[in-house]
Amino acid sequence: MQPNGLGTDPQAGNAPGLAQIIDGKAHAEGLRREVRDKVARMKAVHGVTPGLAVVLVGNDPASEVYVRSKARQAIDAGMRSLEFRLPEDAHADELLALIERLNGDTEVHGILVQLPLPPHLRPTLVINAIDPMKDVDGFHISNVGMVGTGQDAIVPCTPLGCMMMLRHLHPDLRGKTALVIGHSNVVGKPMARLLLNADCTVMIAHKSSTDIPTLARLADIVVVAVGVPGLVKADWIKPGATVIDVGISRVPAPGNGVQEDGSVRTRIVGDVDFENVRHVAGAITPVPGGVGPMTIACLLANTLSACCHLHGIADASLQFE
Ligand code: GUN
Repeated sequence: MQPNGLGTDPQAGNAPGLAQIIDGKAHAEGLRREVRDKVARMKAVHGVTPGLAVVLVGNDPASEVYVRSKARQAIDAGMRSLEFRLPEDAHADELLALIERLNGDTEVHGILVQLPLPPHLRPTLVINAIDPMKDVDGFHISNVGMVGTGQDAIVPCTPLGCMMMLRHLHPDLRGKTALVIGHSNVVGKPMARLLLNADCTVMIAHKSSTDIPTLARLADIVVVAVGVPGLVKADWIKPGATVIDVGISRVPAPGNGVQEDGSVRTRIVGDVDFENVRHVAGAITPVPGGVGPMTIACLLANTLSACCHLHGIADASLQFE
């Protein structure tokens, strides 16, 4: 068995002379299987079913897809899934009242308000209204502060998934030089804090940084999350470095993607020039199939942990002998 609970090695079967492909799909499958087994045990031993409440305000099509996927995967893991939809013009008080109700609901262990919110709603006000123990996104200021000061807390899902894959590859991250490109509250900043907590030497670059290629060439680990297709080039990368690509952009397929019937075919790409960088890097996440699948798997893991904490159940009691 691999350390992440997988029966097969997600780094196995890579071509010689090219970077190892970090198989996020296999990592996510392993994590989902572990969560599913523990949820079954939680129900059987403790009589508790973890519950995840997802709140969507408005009709953003991408958010609709994410919310459906989160609900389906929660159910597949054996959890209770609750979906709440409010109209685009919902008043802040209506949303805050719903959060208050979910905070007090003992059958709800995780609360997630899908972002982005419509412009009239302030995300910080909404997120900070969630009970920090149920904040399975790890966005509440008290979880942010605890991670920032190296304490145990709920960790945002995408950076958590990146860290799990990095630790599988490098069990000891101490002393490694890392560059995080992008300083969003959702990925870049928490990612940098987690790498620092692992005793990496951390640089953070963003849109006002100068000469990012020079910073990147110093790095043993590059994590990029900016949404600029193909930004990171092969000559930015130190030979053998590990490259984690969080970017997801939809671009026209080769040849402008125009089909005979006039429709435009698209494909998903990351922030890394994958085809060239894979000749220099030691290991790399593909897009799709890299970081993406780990995000929802980590949301399920966070919901299970929140449920354990709220019921005073030790994670060890869910392990199979
Ligand atoms: N929108 C895009 N990514 C996320 C996420 O990780 N959490 C929430 N709540 N909304 C998002």
